[in-house]
Amino acid sequence: MATKQTPPGPRGLPLVGNTHQWARDPNAFRERCAAEYGPVVNYEMLGWDTYMVTDPSEIERILVAESERFPKHDDSNSELKQIVGDGLITSEGDLWQRQREAIQPAFYMDHIREYADIMVSRSEETSARWTAGETVEMREEMTRLTLEILVDAMFGRDIDIAERGIYDAVEAFQKPMQPKYQPITFFAPDWTPLPFLRRANRAHDHLHEQVDDIIDQRRTRRERGGQDADRDDLLSMLLDADTEMSDEQIRDEMMTFLFAGHETTALSLTFTWDLLSRNPGAADRLRAELDETLDGRPTIEDVFELDYTEAVVRESMRLYPPAHEIRRQPADDVEIAGYRVPKGALVVLPTWVLHRDGRYWDDPEAFRPERWLPTNESETDRPEFAYFPFGGGPRHCIGHRFAMTEAQLVLATLASEWTLDRQYDDLAVAPAVTLQPKTDIEMAPHPR
Ligand code: HEM
Repeated sequence: MATKQTPPGPRGLPLVGNTHQWARDPNAFRERCAAEYGPVVNYEMLGWDTYMVTDPSEIERILVAESERFPKHDDSNSELKQIVGDGLITSEGDLWQRQREAIQPAFYMDHIREYADIMVSRSEETSARWTAGETVEMREEMTRLTLEILVDAMFGRDIDIAERGIYDAVEAFQKPMQPKYQPITFFAPDWTPLPFLRRANRAHDHLHEQVDDIIDQRRTRRERGGQDADRDDLLSMLLDADTEMSDEQIRDEMMTFLFAGHETTALSLTFTWDLLSRNPGAADRLRAELDETLDGRPTIEDVFELDYTEAVVRESMRLYPPAHEIRRQPADDVEIAGYRVPKGALVVLPTWVLHRDGRYWDDPEAFRPERWLPTNESETDRPEFAYFPFGGGPRHCIGHRFAMTEAQLVLATLASEWTLDRQYDDLAVAPAVTLQPKTDIEMAPHPR
């Protein structure tokens, strides 16, 4: 059999490879590479021999059909493990399989129904904090709101996240992952005495303590008998799971959810508010749907009716996918689109590039929620993996339905009460661990 070729790619410099080109503007770099070199591009980034794949059928093969040959990328995963331990997002093999089966029921529709009420109550509290004409920073607002919703869903509503310092700690421990700190944190070991890294480490320890304490309290209350029997929060489900989990395992899962379960949804909502502020026609249509459908506060039943609201969220995740790329690492030498990709390389599946690819989207840069309406048949023949904001295959996002329901209910609650007046011009974004706005998303709320 003939030896397969290494895929083409941009020429790099000795030692740094293509890092300097990538670092200048990673999104533009990825788009340019895909346009110039085709379905598989080889470059070197931060010392990793990288292969970016933009052929939807090959992406499907990697994530779904041959997922076992493509485990998660080891280095990226180890970094994450330092934060969340061995939870669902980082574990592999039997441990992952067991945990996924044990946790999956918490995301069945009957539980999402329960969480819907939390989502609306917390959105109403956010709304009550706003004052007409007083500017708020939407990323902060959405981060706080989605964290409140998540903590209620995980631990029940009786945990006071402010009092326990959970909100501040989550914020501090995510700071090193924001764009302005990224170039430093990529290279700095975590014992480097930079103030924000020190704070992040302290915050991490604090979160560990808090989560341990909450688990401990819950176990003690249960052992004293009867109480808490009818709780349906995530923690109760893990404590009741058929496969018995150690407290340490439960803690790692809780840390995983604190990490994976709110920031992405907060980002998605933040980008949605930005897009609505630039597209008044879409904002009007959204409000018209809300006025027509809602009878008082939004409910889970409304979510099934709110087609345009759902379309707005989907279209926002197309243009600004919070998970802007998915990383894998072939367990053996493999062939992708006819090229040789060596064992151990970094395989990048860039949602950002696919979601804006002119081969699959008319007018790809335009915000057009109508694309997603069930009545729109003109856009149904695109390959499945031209759009994959939640990944695919066995490791797809377990919180997919939770996130979609949450985004719609938050949007429905807030947009039916307020219009938001944008206080800045352009939106700059940067692909850090997740896709982040570099601009402060300042908006002045006005009652409708
Ligand atoms: C808009 C919001 C969200 C986006 C865009 C998103 C995106 C993703 C993606 C792309 C993956 C797959 C990563 C990979 O294959 O390497 C993933 C996995 C995961 N997500 Fe989400 N997510 C969101 C919300 C949530 C929520 C609300 C939760 C929990 C409440 C959650 C929990 C997880 C977990 C635990 C995994 C790992 C699953 C596994 O490996 O078995 N996510 N997410």
